[in-house]
Amino acid sequence: MISQNEIQPVDKFIEKALYDKKIGYYSKFNPFGKKGDFVTAPLISPLFSEMIAVWVISFWIKLGKPNKFSFVELGPGNGAFCKTFCRVLKNFPELKRSVKIYLFEKSAKLIKIQKNLINDENVFWIKSLSEIKTGPVLFFGNEFFDSVPIKQFEVRKSKIYEKFLKFEKGKFKKFVFKKTQKSIIKKLKDLNLIRKRGVIEYPQKGLKILDLIIKKIQKLNGGILLVDYGYTTAAGKDTLQSLKSHKRNIYYENIGQADITYLVNFHLLKKFLFKRQVFPNKIVSQSFFLKKLGIIERAEILSKKMSFNEKSDLYYRLERLLGEKKMGRLFKVLFASNNKKKFNLGFK
Ligand SMILES: C[S@@+](CC[C@H](N)C(=O)[O-])C[C@H]1O[C@@H](n2cnc3c(N)ncnc32)[C@H](O)[C@@H]1O
Repeated sequence: MISQNEIQPVDKFIEKALYDKKIGYYSKFNPFGKKGDFVTAPLISPLFSEMIAVWVISFWIKLGKPNKFSFVELGPGNGAFCKTFCRVLKNFPELKRSVKIYLFEKSAKLIKIQKNLINDENVFWIKSLSEIKTGPVLFFGNEFFDSVPIKQFEVRKSKIYEKFLKFEKGKFKKFVFKKTQKSIIKKLKDLNLIRKRGVIEYPQKGLKILDLIIKKIQKLNGGILLVDYGYTTAAGKDTLQSLKSHKRNIYYENIGQADITYLVNFHLLKKFLFKRQVFPNKIVSQSFFLKKLGIIERAEILSKKMSFNEKSDLYYRLERLLGEKKMGRLFKVLFASNNKKKFNLGFK
């Protein structure tokens, strides 16, 4: 548990609640699926992963079919995407011979689950992104950045205060606001995150990881494809949220028993990439992206040989991925690459 009396900034609190080796949510549970706390797109339907696989294959072709190609999955969860990706690759022997798939995962518990599920000579687990030495390299993350802790600030009378959580006797007592260090205020300014009022969310750690990714892309050639829920215009509000058994949970309750996430600021990621000469495409919704890749046509082909029940299940799942009120609109897709000549598949 949280120790008797402590005060933690939001990011340190999330880090502990999710990844602490003893009490951390991702260290203890397999959170995915019906029995877990939430379901992600690769678990809703393998069609999602198949479409991403088709996109990756097309990207590799566009690069001129390099005979060495690194594919890095950021935060593979229970390994569902990678499993489907490896299955699809069997139909593309030329790429299968060329690609090394690196799984970048922090949770020892999830690495075990991934290793049980995936048995493929192309797949390697890495502890640090510095282990990627050969390019071109493509990074892919589904719901990765939403699980990397953020800092929160509040603006009051033009002053910026960092938000902390105060615990007493191991239980949440109240929020505490402290003056922000000058060095952090400078970073918020540089990132154009300062506003007149409201909440500022600063993904300090996420940007650190993105910076490493950018350096790899610059050095080795390649790109990054991200799918996540989030917004594309300034939010100025508190987007932290928590789910337990598919229901909303107050994020400072059931610590270590529930997931904690936030909405990804795609506008910020886009600007951050652009400033460092990794050029983003226009951000599109998950529904737009998957439809452009032919997910509906693929479902139609598959459904021809299906029973009525199988067909309804397939279309129910498709609706969850594409529906305006489901994942279709809230989830966004971002691709950025060091090559100014755009690779636009799925984006126009
Ligand atoms: C919300 S889950 C998404 C899982 C998977 N991509 C999916 O779509 O089902 C976030 C994943 O990112 C991993 N993760 C979070 N922070 C990480 C970090 N700093 N380094 C590596 N993996 C991390 C988590 O352990 C988990 O596997």
